[in-house]
Amino acid sequence: MEQTTDTGHFKLLYDLGCAFSSKIELPELIPFVIAKCREALEAEGVSVLLLDRDRNELYFPYVSGDDAKVSDTLRQMRFRADFGIAGAALKSGRPILVKDAQNDSRFYAGVDRETGIVSRSIIAVPLTSRQGPIGVVEVLNRRDGAFFTDDELYFMEAVSGSIAIAIENAQLYAKLRDSRESLRTQVGVLRRDLARHDLFTEMIGTGPRMAEVFRLMEAAAASAITVLIEGETGTGKELVARGIHQASARSDSQFVAVNCAALPESLLESELFGHRRGSFTGAIRDNPGLFRVADGGTVFLDEIADMPAPMQAKLLRVLEEGEVVPVGESLPSKVDVRVVAATNRTLGTEIERGTFREDLYYRLGAFAINLPPLRERRDDIPLLASRFINVFSARHNKQIGGIEREALDSLIAYEWPGNIRQLRNEIDRAVALTREGEMIRSAAFSPIVRSDGDEGRSTVESPAIGAPSAKSVDGRGGNGAGKPLREARAAFEAAYIGDVLTKNEGNVSRAARELGISRPALQEKLKQYLLR
Ligand SMILES: Nc1ncnc2c1ncn2[C@@H]1O[C@H](COP(=O)(O)OP(=O)(O)OP(=O)(O)O)[C@@H](O)[C@H]1O
Ligand SMILES: [Mg+2]
Repeated sequence: MEQTTDTGHFKLLYDLGCAFSSKIELPELIPFVIAKCREALEAEGVSVLLLDRDRNELYFPYVSGDDAKVSDTLRQMRFRADFGIAGAALKSGRPILVKDAQNDSRFYAGVDRETGIVSRSIIAVPLTSRQGPIGVVEVLNRRDGAFFTDDELYFMEAVSGSIAIAIENAQLYAKLRDSRESLRTQVGVLRRDLARHDLFTEMIGTGPRMAEVFRLMEAAAASAITVLIEGETGTGKELVARGIHQASARSDSQFVAVNCAALPESLLESELFGHRRGSFTGAIRDNPGLFRVADGGTVFLDEIADMPAPMQAKLLRVLEEGEVVPVGESLPSKVDVRVVAATNRTLGTEIERGTFREDLYYRLGAFAINLPPLRERRDDIPLLASRFINVFSARHNKQIGGIEREALDSLIAYEWPGNIRQLRNEIDRAVALTREGEMIRSAAFSPIVRSDGDEGRSTVESPAIGAPSAKSVDGRGGNGAGKPLREARAAFEAAYIGDVLTKNEGNVSRAARELGISRPALQEKLKQYLLR
């Protein structure tokens, strides 16, 4: 008998040792430990009572017993930390063995009364961590009706040190995990704010049409909606797509850009959806496909109008079902990807020509962002020019004195069929051709830009933008150039808000609605710009 008990105890020690080194989460550690103790001591019940220091109470977070109802009642109970045998063990810091609880003056009958148990023999061992007492392990009633022995008391005492440390570690771990979670959330929020900041500093745009672009970008970033970006070549479609990704909750995952015009149909499909090794000639290894690479992130489908019709059908399925079928496989796999598509063609015309699926267009076009061509927002040219001068003088490691009035005028007047990319390239070239310390002259631009009077030159005197203040603040007069972007934008914003407010007869709610911002946000801005 002695032999079997010892073997049982050793086995318990062994099992507990394993548990302590592997079960780090408190909710799974303690139930395991007490179930093991109950088994080894052949007890009716074992519970851990933890000390709630703030309220100076003991409670039963973990109970292992034969009767589920009793265990439930115990889990609801709390009593004063100096009550009962458990209270005595906690207070004295010493283990207690009681043979006949009912006749022990320290016994607290409240628990028996609530649960209907009849307590007889009890072992109560204090749990002490580095911070002091944290609770008690209590073993109740041997199943065979006998008393617990001193040996069993010593055994529980030996085990209790490890239990206490394990509980403390698990509590610390839980605390650390909580704070790590909250730190991670905070970092996420901060990073998104930063990304949004970058997005607004990298992208230059004033006037109501660009304000609408920024508003839509923010709205898109806040959701997982499929976005279609339309605009002529070089108007910043990819910049907008990246900006949305960066400002979204997906920014930790990949942004994958695919040019749909660059690949033949067969390759495009396996590029996007992946393939199994050997599924076609040349498929020498498994390819997960870009959709799965971008899982959790964004896929940017550039030049979507050039996507072959069969692929359009497959893409529609991806958008609708959220799953891809790799080439050579029959089972789809789930992907969580936001799709941003871009085109510089009018998809309506492509639908009429029968090259673009109408159903896909409706799916993509539900959230469309239209980028105005540069010639329709000439007010931004001085700002863009000064940004690019800074970029390229840093890149060419050359100090440039700025841009001459006449040269700037020729930029403002030009039609810019290649839009911002073309302007950027012009400035790159001009900076390369301008001597250190000198100002950019129109001679530094390519002939097509500076040629007077021919088709390249605009006949439109004033920009096609309907915001009068934008002009007076930073526009054709050129006094916007050289001004820090933040200042220029603030000045524009103040003037624009002033206009909208005037138009709405000073009604803040209506003005806020028209501006697409909240009433408090508008009030904040009015305060900031001293308009109110
Ligand atoms: N609003 C902007 N502010 C500053 N730079 C911009 C802006 N829009 C575009 N750019 C710059 O212009 C260049 C062209 O932009 P982007 O590649 O995004 O154009 P796109 O519309 O994708 O062109 P394409 O249709 O030819 O692919 C990039 O260098 C980009 O950084
Ligand atoms: Mg592009």
